Amino acid sequence: MASPIHTVVFPVAGLGTRFLPATKAVPKEMLPVVDRPLIQWAVEEAAAAGCTRFVFVTAPEKSAILQHFSPAPQYTEALTARGKTKELALLQAGLPQNAELIEVYQDQPLGLGHAIWCAKQAVGDAPFAVILPDDMVQHSQGCLSQMVEAHARVGGNLVAVENVPADQTHHYGVLDPASESEGLVAIQGLVEKPAQGQAPSTLAMIGRYIFEPEIMHTLSRTIAAGETGAGGEVQITDAMAQLIGQMPLHGLRFQGTRYDCGSRDGFLEANVAFSLAQASESGDNDLKSKLSRLLD
Ligand code: UTP
Repeated sequence: MASPIHTVVFPVAGLGTRFLPATKAVPKEMLPVVDRPLIQWAVEEAAAAGCTRFVFVTAPEKSAILQHFSPAPQYTEALTARGKTKELALLQAGLPQNAELIEVYQDQPLGLGHAIWCAKQAVGDAPFAVILPDDMVQHSQGCLSQMVEAHARVGGNLVAVENVPADQTHHYGVLDPASESEGLVAIQGLVEKPAQGQAPSTLAMIGRYIFEPEIMHTLSRTIAAGETGAGGEVQITDAMAQLIGQMPLHGLRFQGTRYDCGSRDGFLEANVAFSLAQASESGDNDLKSKLSRLLD
C-alpha cells in the first residue's frame, strides 16, 4: 500500500549551539555518523517510509545541506573515468530517486514551531511528517515507517515518545498520558521543558512527528498574535497541546534506540552503535574487534 504521507519537513535552520565549535562553520546536520551526514540518514528514513516530497527549512548560511543532495558532475565524471563504480554507486545512493526537493528559508531561528510553520505553503493541505535529523533512531524498521503505520490506525497528530530519566525531563516536551494501548499513548496534555519536579510523567517527545494540516493554522494564529512559549521560542509542543480535544493526539513508543546527535555524547554513541551495526551486517570482524578493543 502506498504511504498516505508524501511530504516530510526537515527543520534544519537552528544554530546548533550545544555542539560548538564543531557547528560554527559546518551545519550540525552535516556532521557525519559513520559515512554519511545526519541529514542523509534522515532523508533515507523518510524515503523508506514512503515520502517523496522533502521540504528543507533552512538558513542561507547552511547551503551545504541542499548542496549535499545536488548532482555533482565533478565527482561523477572523475569516478567514471577512473572506473570507481563502488564509490559512484555510493554517491548516487545518497540522492533520493523520483523525489521533489523543496527549500524554504527561516530568516531567524525563532523556534521549532516557527520553523515548521515556514513550510506551510510547501506542505499544503495534507498530513505531513517532520524529522529532526539530530535525533537518530536505530532499528531495522525506520522510526518514521513505524509511525506511518500507526497513523494509518489512529489518525490525528502523532509523535514518537520514550521514557527519559526523571532528572532529564526539563530538556524535553513531556506528556500527560491519559491511557495506553499497544504502544500508543493517548495524550491529554503536554508541557515543554517543565521545571525540575513539575513534569507530568517521564514520557518525552523525540524528533519524529506526523501532523494534520490544522497544526499550520494553529501556528499561524500563535505567530500572528506574537505569542511565544518556553525559552521565548515558538514551540511546536504548544501548538500540539492547543489541538487536544479537536483531534486525536498520540505518542508512539517506537521500537529502537534513539541517539541525541545534537549533543557530543549522543553523537559519539551513535557513531559507535552504527559502526558496530554496519560491521555486523557486512561481516567485518576486523572493525568489530577494533571497536571492541577501544571500548574496553
Ligand atoms: P534543536 O534545539 O535541537 O537545535 O532543534 P538547535 O537550536 O540547532 O541546537 P542547539 O539547541 O542550539 O544546540 C531541533 C531541530 O530544529 C531545528 C534545528 O536545526 C534542529 O534540526 N530548528 C530549531 C530550526 O530549524 N529552527 C529553529 O528556530 C530551531
